[in-house]
Amino acid sequence: MTATIGIVGSGAVGRALAAHIAASGQDVLLCNSRGRETLEPLVEELGPRVTALETSAVAAADLVVFAIPWPAVVPLLEELPPWHGRILVDATAPASHFRMPSRYELGGLTSSEVVQASAAGARVVKTFCTLPAAVLALPPATEAGRRVMFLSGDDQDARVVVGALVDEIGYAAIDLGSLATGSLLQQPGGSLAGRELWTSAEVVAE
Ligand SMILES: NC(=O)c1ccc[n+]([C@@H]2O[C@H](COP(=O)([O-])OP(=O)(O)OC[C@H]3O[C@@H](n4cnc5c(N)ncnc54)[C@H](OP(=O)(O)O)[C@@H]3O)[C@@H](O)[C@H]2O)c1
Repeated sequence: MTATIGIVGSGAVGRALAAHIAASGQDVLLCNSRGRETLEPLVEELGPRVTALETSAVAAADLVVFAIPWPAVVPLLEELPPWHGRILVDATAPASHFRMPSRYELGGLTSSEVVQASAAGARVVKTFCTLPAAVLALPPATEAGRRVMFLSGDDQDARVVVGALVDEIGYAAIDLGSLATGSLLQQPGGSLAGRELWTSAEVVAE
């Protein structure tokens, strides 16, 4: 269990993840771009494990999920203090509608490598980004088995921590390895983008 968990962004992706994390019995901090008071109805709906704070406070958590539109990512990272080894979970996507991303616009990097390069001292892990938000909002565990959630990152220990969180909230984590390889597979245009996969029910029962 991770010490403190923050989610930056409380839209379709952020609120779905907040609900799953809270349902797993863990506290979660949440913010948006408009201030904590605007989140009061959502916090009320999500229950006592969810607390709304300002972005700077949420981004100071031990593990911080970024669930904000791509154009806001690098500008926000430039405002935030160094990460000192804390984990940044990148759930963002550099394009919409699962079209091919412009790798040329990203300097030939995957989007999560851009995030890593912009977040001094962070250990970036990419996950929660291959399923449409409407699917992400559904229960992670189904009668067919647990939904598969891919993850990738350059720090193995951080991948283990995030993999444990992914499992705790009910998904089946599959580690794809490095950001370069794993993010290319997960980001829009990658062969895993939009793929809804399950473990078998037998595996869940073990
Ligand atoms: N939707 C999907 O199906 C899907 C699937 C996979 C990945 N993604 C990716 O996940 C990310 C989030 O998508 P979404 O659909 O959840 O977007 P969304 O519904 O538009 O929500 C975005 C959230 O980010 C907040 N935000 C924007 N800039 C911020 C800042 N500087 N500081 C704090 N909060 C900020 C917004 O605040 P306000 O509420 O105040 O505007 C809003 O709560 C995107 O990168 C998207 O490409 C989306």
